[in-house]
Amino acid sequence: MALTSIAASWRSQNMATRLLRLWLGGTWFYGGWQKASDNTFLNKASTNYIGAQLAGLAQHSPLKFALRHMVEHASLIGVSVMLSEFAIGIAVLTGIALQLAIVGGALVSLILWLSVTWTVYPYFLGSDSAYLVMWIALLFLVRQQNVGRGKKSGVIPDLTDRREFVRIVGVGTTAIIAALAGSRFQKPAPKSKAGAILVKLASFPVGSNMQFTAPDGNPAFLFRTNAGVFAYSAICTHQGCTLGYSVLEHTLNCPCHGGKYDPANGGKVIAGPPPTPLPKYRVAIKGDSIVTV
Ligand code: FES
Repeated sequence: MALTSIAASWRSQNMATRLLRLWLGGTWFYGGWQKASDNTFLNKASTNYIGAQLAGLAQHSPLKFALRHMVEHASLIGVSVMLSEFAIGIAVLTGIALQLAIVGGALVSLILWLSVTWTVYPYFLGSDSAYLVMWIALLFLVRQQNVGRGKKSGVIPDLTDRREFVRIVGVGTTAIIAALAGSRFQKPAPKSKAGAILVKLASFPVGSNMQFTAPDGNPAFLFRTNAGVFAYSAICTHQGCTLGYSVLEHTLNCPCHGGKYDPANGGKVIAGPPPTPLPKYRVAIKGDSIVTV
């Protein structure tokens, strides 16, 4: 019965509406899954912890006042965001409380735009404003088609309708089950192998840099200066793109939204939207080599 009404919700809509529903619903579900299966998202010890992300975003966002307050309840906010993404994705794909889910998706996109991608320049490199426009277009399409078929077209579902109420409870329950399922796919952090030789000193003079794979499996950069040796993660703290080293600027640059970090100054952010400096890896000179510590 439920499957029949889901299939009918797709059959009754035109191709543009189906395409938007498929893309937005699938993307929102995947967004929830990515958070649920990421063991750093709710881990207070991680630089990727939702609280660290919110604190960083609060520095440049017009929503900074709200974001600073959200940091105090970061884990709760993180779980709410994850469940909302699952619920919106499921509701859009199944057509249950569709207009309410679309408005929810638009609101999430608006908040992300005003916080995560607000400083992205030029604006079209940030995806959240484009998602906001897609949600609004989908809302217009759905409402037009409902009016065309003479259907009642309110955003708030009729909760006095027992079947509609049960369907909405089903969406919420499925979102929780999906979050629990995603958490089963979290990978344990690999153990750090201390003492691994990265490079011989003789072939890595002062002024050199190189890429290497850190003990946790992530890409990283090693530098040697007159002050010693030091290493940074090559994962951008904004949205996780892999950084490259600019020989001309002596900076670690992100190809996605123009973030730049200064490796000679603690991996500090010097341009673009990254919220926090680069995480460091511990390295040292031991004998004639540079090793991980
Ligand atoms: S991922 Fe956006 S600046 Fe790096």
